[in-house]
Amino acid sequence: MSSARKVTGLVGWRGMVGSVLMDRMQAEGDFDLIEPLFFSTSNAGGDAPAFARSGEKLQDAMDIAALKRCDIIITAQGGDYTTEVFGKLRSAGWTGHWIDAASSLRMQEDAVIVLDPVNLPVIQAALAKGGRNWIGGNCTVSCMLMGVGALFKAGLVEWMTSMTYQAASGGGAQHMRELLTQFGSLHAEVRDLLADPQSAILEIDRRILGRQQSMPAAEMANFGVPLGGSLIPWIDKDLGDGISREEWKGGAETNKILGQGPAFGTASIPVDGFCVRVGAMRCHSQALTFKLKKDVPTADIEAMIAADNAWAKVVPNNREATMQGLTPVAVTGTLDIPVGRIRKLAMGPEYVGAFTIGDQLLWGAAEPLRRMLRILLDH
Ligand code: HSE
Repeated sequence: MSSARKVTGLVGWRGMVGSVLMDRMQAEGDFDLIEPLFFSTSNAGGDAPAFARSGEKLQDAMDIAALKRCDIIITAQGGDYTTEVFGKLRSAGWTGHWIDAASSLRMQEDAVIVLDPVNLPVIQAALAKGGRNWIGGNCTVSCMLMGVGALFKAGLVEWMTSMTYQAASGGGAQHMRELLTQFGSLHAEVRDLLADPQSAILEIDRRILGRQQSMPAAEMANFGVPLGGSLIPWIDKDLGDGISREEWKGGAETNKILGQGPAFGTASIPVDGFCVRVGAMRCHSQALTFKLKKDVPTADIEAMIAADNAWAKVVPNNREATMQGLTPVAVTGTLDIPVGRIRKLAMGPEYVGAFTIGDQLLWGAAEPLRRMLRILLDH
C-alpha cells in the first residue's frame, strides 16, 4: 500500500475481543499509522474514543456509504454483523481489505485465515493474487498452531488429536460473569460448613451437588447447565454427525491455515479430538497427541518448537515447571504460548504428547487481526 495513512474502520471495538484489540493497538502504536474511523451499531453520532485522536464522531456501522470510505475495516462485532453487512458492502463495489474476528467467512475460498507467525507465506501468496478478506482463526486452533506449528511446518505430523480445556471467555463476556456467579452461589451454599473444620466433606459435597442440580435457569442462561464445579464436553453447534462445530473447526481450520487440504490440491492432515468447556476464565488449554511420520528425539522436538516463533516457550517436563508455567493463571494476559509435558508416549517412538495454553483473547482473537493490519500497511 502507499504511504498515505489508510482510513481504517473499526467495528465492534467496545466488546470483549474489541477491547483487547484496542489495548493491543494502543500498546503497539498502531493508531499512529492509520486514520481510524470508529463505527457503532448502537451509538452513531456519539464521541469516538479519545485514545485514537480521530476527531470524528462514531459512524453508523450499518451505513454502507460510510463503510465505503474505509481502505481497511477491522471488525470484532461478531458473525451476525458480518453476515448482514459484508455482502452488501462488496456488492456496493467496495474493494478494501476486510479483517474479521468472526467465523462466518473463514472457510470461503477467497478468505485467508490469518496467523502470520504460522502462515505468512499463505497470506503473502493471497495478497499477491489480490486477496482482500482476512479472517482470524478459531481461538483454539490459533493458540495450538502458535505453540506446535513447527512440527506441521516441518512436515512431521501424520495426524494429531487435541483434547481441549476451553475457558468461559470463549463463549463471551456474559459467560465469564455467569461462571463467577455460579462459583459464588456454590460457595454461599456451604459457607457455614467450610468455616467449620470439623464439618463432613460428604455433607459439603452433597449440598454442592444439590445446588448444582437445582441451579435456577437464570444462573445458567448462557451455558445452559452448571459449569462451576463441572465441565461441558460440547462446544458450539451440534453438526448432527456426532461432531461438535468446534471439533470440526480443529481439522478444517488447521489445514486451511497451513495452506493444505483439497482446496490447495493436497491431502489434509487428520486433526480431531474433543473440545471441552471448563471453569477457566480466559485461557484455552489443550492436551495434544501426535503421530509423527518418524521417530524424532524429544530434544529435537523441543528445539524446533522453541525456535519457531518469539512466543512459543518450551516448559521443561517436570512437576515444578509445569505447576508454575503451564496453567491458565500463569498465561492469561500474556502473548506467551507455553508448550510443556512434551514426551514420548507408551504407544511407540513416533507418538508424542504435549500440553499447550494460549490466551484466547490475545493470540486466539485480537493479535492476529492487528498483525494483519500491519502486514497490509507494510504491503
Ligand atoms: N469457539 C471458541 C470457544 C471461541 O467457544 O471457546 C473462540 O473461537
